[in-house]
Amino acid sequence: VTEGTDNRVWVVGAGTMGAQIAQLCAISGYSVACFDREAGILDAARDRVAGALERFFVAKEKMTRDEADAVMGRLDFVTLDGEAEPPEVAIEAVIETLDEKRRVFRWIEERVPEDTTIASNTSGLSVGEIAGGLDRRERAAGCHFFNPVAVMKLVEIVRSEWTDDTTVERLSAFVRRIGKVPVVCRDVTAFVANRCYEALLREALWLAFEGAARPWDVDLALRLGYNLPLGPLELQDRIGTWSLLKTSEGTRERLLAQLSEGGRARLDEMLDQGYLGPQPGGEMRGIYEYFEDSDGVSRPPEASGAKAA
Ligand SMILES: NC(=O)c1ccc[n+]([C@@H]2O[C@H](COP(=O)([O-])OP(=O)(O)OC[C@H]3O[C@@H](n4cnc5c(N)ncnc54)[C@H](O)[C@@H]3O)[C@@H](O)[C@H]2O)c1
Repeated sequence: VTEGTDNRVWVVGAGTMGAQIAQLCAISGYSVACFDREAGILDAARDRVAGALERFFVAKEKMTRDEADAVMGRLDFVTLDGEAEPPEVAIEAVIETLDEKRRVFRWIEERVPEDTTIASNTSGLSVGEIAGGLDRRERAAGCHFFNPVAVMKLVEIVRSEWTDDTTVERLSAFVRRIGKVPVVCRDVTAFVANRCYEALLREALWLAFEGAARPWDVDLALRLGYNLPLGPLELQDRIGTWSLLKTSEGTRERLLAQLSEGGRARLDEMLDQGYLGPQPGGEMRGIYEYFEDSDGVSRPPEASGAKAA
């Protein structure tokens, strides 16, 4: 490893995921440079991290205020024209478009030493395509975190057709050092966890929108039959990812592949009428409410969110 890169990480993109990844690395003892395009975005990211440290660590006595200050001291928020010391790992966490990610990978490669590992937090793009424009694409891989980063233990390490063993080993060691569990996979669509979960969700959507079972009954069957903590439909409500069915063509095609025209029309009606999960006021208006409102039926007492009898 190039002298002087030890214990340093770069995170490019200070949005929802980037700021959380930067926070985790700083808590784990790394000095972190977190980059984004504008000072205002960086200020907001810094505020979110400081707020999270206060709420989830200091207030819960998992960290003293001095320790939280030390974590903030290890975090630098830097605009793209700013300077930072070279890192052992650089993680891109910018918006989910191939062009932007390829550009950011090149931007990173132009600024880091030869053996810095370059990682992408993409959840849906091909890591090989993102890395294809690099001079040394063997040192690049996916490093897929789950939201919320502080809570979710899994990080998928995605090996593209170019990624070498050293890169996989280094990234695995890095992931363990920040307290997560690495799972290595090839560069296949949706990787491991999302791919399997999508299969479950696809069937659940088919059952509900083809009218084969009520959505709460699909979730109940999986909760009671497979001991899942939450069914796949209620999980979509809680994490508010229904809108991906509108915005991501790939996700839509994969999840709705088996639905009839009538089933798709019904699902689109739910999306268009704004049954997308948590509402700004904290109220829930998701798939259960959509079926209750449109079919004039109520969920049974065992279903999530049912009122006690
Ligand atoms: N949100 C999630 O739950 C989640 C979970 C796992 C993986 N991901 C993946 O993480 C990545 C980031 O997602 P997010 O939800 O944090 O997005 P976000 O929109 O919250 O943040 C993206 C950030 O990247 C910045 N950015 C865009 N172009 C840039 C550039 N050229 N250089 C520097 N910064 C740039 C934007 O200003 C923004 O702050 C995506 O690839 C997404 O698929 C997201």
